[in-house]
Amino acid sequence: MKVLRQDKINASTYVLWLESKERPDPGQFYMVYPRDGAKLLGRPLSIFDYQEGTLGLLYEVRGEGTREFTGLEEGDEIQVLGPYGQGFHIKEERSTAFIAGGVGLAPFVYFSRFFKSRPKVYFGTQNAQGYEEYLRDYNLGLEIHQGGYITDYVDYEAFDQFYTCGPRVMMEKVLEDCISHDKDLELSMEERMGCGFGACLGCSIETLAGQKRVCKEGPVFRKEDFFHA
Ligand SMILES: Cc1cc2nc3c(=O)[nH]c(=O)nc-3n(C[C@H](O)[C@H](O)[C@H](O)COP(=O)(O)OP(=O)(O)OC[C@H]3O[C@@H](n4cnc5c(N)ncnc54)[C@H](O)[C@@H]3O)c2cc1C
Ligand code: FES
Repeated sequence: MKVLRQDKINASTYVLWLESKERPDPGQFYMVYPRDGAKLLGRPLSIFDYQEGTLGLLYEVRGEGTREFTGLEEGDEIQVLGPYGQGFHIKEERSTAFIAGGVGLAPFVYFSRFFKSRPKVYFGTQNAQGYEEYLRDYNLGLEIHQGGYITDYVDYEAFDQFYTCGPRVMMEKVLEDCISHDKDLELSMEERMGCGFGACLGCSIETLAGQKRVCKEGPVFRKEDFFHA
């Protein structure tokens, strides 16, 4: 795919804009391949936004692959495969909240475009710098908290349907809270990936129905995949 531009939200967070004809489903992801062949594997990145042939991927620099992405410039060509995986189920008529930790915010910006009334977005991050300004033109009901536990701020009684993405410990707490408040929940899981399309089994997780591949049966799972009512 061709790089259109790259925005810097803060010192370690970027949005890479690419030319892409295919309209993805919210909650799907792409495998983005570093150009340095020694790094081999693609890096899975969620869809931050898509509009009229332009795909946005928000990423945080963690290791060698994402560090390399920061050097991409307008006109560069990179290998990007996807969209992969099963995305979120849309239940527009229900009052909805997203609970995001860190770059777990990424899929909810595009997903929010599928709702007529804007969903509430609870966003917890270690570094809130730049986000509010960057997201100003998106119609998000954004509540940002820097540090602490984002789950401490969630009003579970105010909404029917929850979606979450972020660090495993945060999502475990959201699952526990949605079980105790009897709320519907979908979780976008993060696992280290090899192929990204179901062949290597490297991303398998345990569910009540046995092992599932995060890249193929996920990344979005339901509360019921982990909990018997
Ligand atoms: C379905 C899915 C969607 C994702 N969406 C996004 C996104 O939108 N934005 C974003 O910034 N990141 C996202 N990630 C995480 C992202 O893929 C990793 O941060 C990235 O692959 C790290 O690559 P690297 O080369 O920088 O790091 P590496 O050098 O490969 O590793 C550096 C560090 O990152 C950790 N790491 C590597 N891969 C993962 C992973 N898959 N999950 C958790 N930790 C990992 C390693 O354990 C290590 O500590 C997503 C992951 C999945 C599975
Ligand atoms: S990453 Fe290969 S099966 Fe999921």
